[in-house]
Amino acid sequence: MVYLTRKEHFNAAHMLYNHEWSEEKNIEVFGKCANKNYHGHNYNLFVTVKGNPNPETGFVMNVKTLSTIIQKEVCDLLDHKNLSIDVPELKDKMNSTENLAIFIWNKIVPHLADCEMHCVELWETENIYVRYYGENN
Ligand code: NI
Repeated sequence: MVYLTRKEHFNAAHMLYNHEWSEEKNIEVFGKCANKNYHGHNYNLFVTVKGNPNPETGFVMNVKTLSTIIQKEVCDLLDHKNLSIDVPELKDKMNSTENLAIFIWNKIVPHLADCEMHCVELWETENIYVRYYGENN
């Protein structure tokens, strides 16, 4: 089994705010991410697939194809958008890095043919990232 990773990048704005809570509690829990006028992040996305190299190509998957899938299914949808307003599937959701990683996984998986998804790694800042391996892992 070989693991193949493609890195992509997008910029997006969001706000983390639970309307069931008081403003004080939102600020306590989410800090600057609770700013009601939104704020942006420069996200770095690493998508890893796994499989055995195809004997004809030596590839687990054509990495150009993987890049195109990520661009079309994720970056075209999220890049330079306000996640809390512009993206219908994410509107009014808690758009944490954790939930975005799950969202991205679900967007990409249906488009993989000859290999399996292994991991979505999403960096929100230089110091914070999450990894998602699918529900059963
Ligand atoms: Ni934030």
